[in-house]
Amino acid sequence: MTEPDSVEAVIQMLAQGGYYCDDDLAMGVFLAIKLGKPLFLEGEPGVGKTEMAKVLAQRLGRRLIRLQCYEGLDISTAVYEWNYAKQLLSLRLAGDAAPGREALEDVFGPEFLLSRPLLDAIRSESQGQRVVLLIDELDRADEEFEAFLLELLSDFQVTIPEMGTVGSDTVPLVILTSNRTREIHDAIKRRCLYHWIDYPSPEKELQIVRAKAPGIDERLARDICQFMNRLRQDDYLKRPGVAESLDWAQALVLLHRDHLDPEVVRQTKSCLFKNRQDLRRFQDGIAGYLGAGALE
Ligand SMILES: Nc1ncnc2c1ncn2[C@@H]1O[C@H](COP(=O)(O)OP(=O)(O)OP(=O)(O)O)[C@@H](O)[C@H]1O
Ligand SMILES: [Mg+2]
Repeated sequence: MTEPDSVEAVIQMLAQGGYYCDDDLAMGVFLAIKLGKPLFLEGEPGVGKTEMAKVLAQRLGRRLIRLQCYEGLDISTAVYEWNYAKQLLSLRLAGDAAPGREALEDVFGPEFLLSRPLLDAIRSESQGQRVVLLIDELDRADEEFEAFLLELLSDFQVTIPEMGTVGSDTVPLVILTSNRTREIHDAIKRRCLYHWIDYPSPEKELQIVRAKAPGIDERLARDICQFMNRLRQDDYLKRPGVAESLDWAQALVLLHRDHLDPEVVRQTKSCLFKNRQDLRRFQDGIAGYLGAGALE
């Protein structure tokens, strides 16, 4: 598939995959592709950070390789691991009770190496298969992992002590995401292009809702987007993202609704809030959200 040659082309390409973004984000994507720089996406939960990488890979016709970060993520899960069982078997089959240096070197070759996402991405690129590498929720990983990543993002190569350095002429398109549960080190950000994904405007969200809840009544779709926009101006513990709008829209379609009213909002509030405090606060404010002028 051909790469987009303008910001406008990026917007169109993503929209064809059902992803709607504004000019700024599209510019970030365009530059990341053209400059070969990683794109660092931050934003509240459910605003489309992960989805961006998925749609990008699909539309560019590239394989998506995803590294989901978590506390305790280590090199053997993120980069590579030796296939010990296969190595042992191979040595046993060779019949060496005490294997010599040569036999040991043999079992530290490529066929005994298990590639994990980061090495997989570099190896794929070195074999001419272009990929999108998604390093998702980096804020969940430990700082030591971040330090390792720093090196990788600078040179796009991995040094395996027993084998040497594995690199590639082309670099993967890297998307990093964070929910900002902690600050990511400046050194990482400096190696990336950065974009903060905000909640979408009601107009943008309307496009998303129409695409992801097909058959939805136009008035209901508009009501939902206005309502969500109003809701997000309040100080909830967890403000609902686009994911919640879509769950809600799909629930309301299922219930054959064509507009919002206090009764149905109350009945379906669990689509929007996932903790007791917010639910209570919301319940008390429903009338205000639906009051005169709240939905135009
Ligand atoms: N701009 C958008 N266009 C189309 N769909 C979107 C957009 N933003 C969000 N969505 C939809 O919202 C849902 C949540 O998106 P996604 O999982 O990418 O959010 P996220 O930012 O990664 O959230 P989290 O931080 O919780 O992982 C998905 O179903 C996605 O399809
Ligand atoms: Mg995500």
